[in-house]
Parts: sequence; C-alpha cells; structure tokens
Amino acid sequence: MGGSELILQETRGSLALLRLNRPQALNALNHALMDELENALDRIEKDAAIRAVVIAGSERAFAAGADIKEMDSKTSEQMSADPHLGRWDKLGAFPKPTIAAVSGFALGGGCELALACDMIVASESAVFGQPEILIGVIPGAGGTVRLAKALGKQRAMELVLTGRRVTAREAAALGLVNRVAPVESYLDEALKLAEQVAAQPPLAARAAKTSILHALDVGLSDALSAERRLFWELFDTEDQKEGMKAFVEKRKAVFRGR
Ligand code: HXC
Repeated sequence: MGGSELILQETRGSLALLRLNRPQALNALNHALMDELENALDRIEKDAAIRAVVIAGSERAFAAGADIKEMDSKTSEQMSADPHLGRWDKLGAFPKPTIAAVSGFALGGGCELALACDMIVASESAVFGQPEILIGVIPGAGGTVRLAKALGKQRAMELVLTGRRVTAREAAALGLVNRVAPVESYLDEALKLAEQVAAQPPLAARAAKTSILHALDVGLSDALSAERRLFWELFDTEDQKEGMKAFVEKRKAVFRGR
C-alpha cells in the first residue's frame, strides 16, 4: 500500500485501488482529501498500464459527505469562487472506467462521489442519501442531476426533498447500484468487476464510456451521431483488427491498447 495520507493507493495488475482514508471524520471530503484524489487520478490517467479504477472507503464509511466544518461559515461568493465541487465533475469525466466500492455511509458529497463513478458495488451495510436539505442546502456536486438521470424524476425528488437514507437493498431496487455483496466480499466483487472491464480493449472502453456519458448530456440524434463516429474511429485501431481477426481465426484476442 503506497500513496499519501488521505488517499491510499494500491496497484493490482491493471487496476488502481484508491481508498479514502480519513476515518476520524468518516471520510468527510475536505479540500485536502479531494486534492489528493485529484492528483492520484491525474497520475493514473497518464499511466497506460492502469485500465480501471476502484474507489473505496472503509467498512464503516465510504464518505459521510463534503466536510461540513469547512463550509459552515462560508458565503455564497466564497463558495462560488471555490474550485472544490469541480473535482466531482472531473471524476465523472475521467477517461478510464471507474467503480465505487461503497460500504457504510455514502451521504451527500459521498453519495455524489459514488454517482460520479461509472458503476457502484455496495456492501450490504451501505447507506445512501442526499441529506443536504436537512442542513439547509441542496446537493451541489451533481446529486440532483445524476440522481435524476439515474433514477428518474420522482425518485430523485423524494430522496433530495426528504433527505431520507436508503439501504443497499433499496438502492439496488432503485437502480442506484449495480450489485450488492456481503461486507466481507464487496471490495473483492468491485475489484472483480473492474478486472472484467480492465480486460477489454482500452480504446473501445474509452469510446463506450464517452458515448454513454454523452448520451446523458445531449439529445437523441446528437447522441446517435456521436456514437456512430466513435464506432467508426475504432476501425483505425489495431485492437479492432486483432479482435475481429481473432474471432474469425477462432482464437483469443490479444489487445494492446492501440
Ligand atoms: C464533517 C463529519 C461529517 C461531515 C461526519 N463527520 N460527517 N465532519 N463533515 N460531512 C464527523 C463528525 O463530526 C464526527 O467528528 C465524526 O465524523 C464521526 O461522526 P458521528 O456523527 O459522531 O458518527 P455517527 O453518530 O455514527 O453518525 C454518522 C453520520 C453523521 C450519520 C454519518 O456523522 C452525519 O449525519 N454526518 C453528516 C452527514 C451529512 O449531512 N452529509 C452531507 C454533508 S453536506 P467528531 O470530531 O465530532 O468526532 C454535503 C454537500 C455536498 O455533502 C455538496 C458538495 C460536495
């Protein structure tokens, strides 16, 4: 296990595992922690050997929100001049596949951090929620937007307007998480899913992620045109030639990320 204090980074083959490490504050996402997370992601982006990222917290808390003690006395002007919230968007647009492995509390900015990832694997003890309304604000790091896109209007309204917490099982029924596993194995489940994704040709994985995120952002015909362009572009890659040739020759493809 290497890395700096607030983010522990481990490399497992072609995966990076990033663990939020501020246990005394239930991994509340203060500036220092999000700074380290951003720096770790910047390094991973440049490292061609890493093909997928798993972000986890501890068993007790994925993250209990943005750090309330850092913002309780801030003004609107100060908040709007602060680049902090942009880091959630940067994670959302990260070019390699990302999976949140969530156990315990994923509240407020913590829930938004999980939502910014491509997929979520939850432990049976996971608790999701957007409790910001209970402290006089709204989710400011994508919660209203990503929940509305992921769950639809009615469900997003209920969660955001009541601040109610949902269990892992309810989150699965709502379509908020990809799968639920026992506390003892949720992290392994997340790593297994990440391995499956990391084994795919990376340029195709990147194009797939780009297209899905774009589809959530624009109208249908723009999204379909963009998908087609990304599809066409892959025909200039070695991995497309190898993948299709291997199929025809009835052998396993060897992808090189080119
Ligand atoms: C700062 C936090 C924190 C937070 C917990 N702590 N959540 N500090 N910001 N979001 C600290 C507590 O102050 C306490 O520190 C320690 O972590 C342990 O928490 P307890 O409350 O003692 O634990 P427990 O009784 O088990 O309750 C757990 C909890 C509760 C239900 C998760 O801590 C809680 O309600 N936290 C706040 C959840 C929340 O409102 N999140 C949304 C934040 S706003 P001390 O020093 O007292 O031991 C937000 C905005 C998003 O996220 C938009 C921008 C990103």
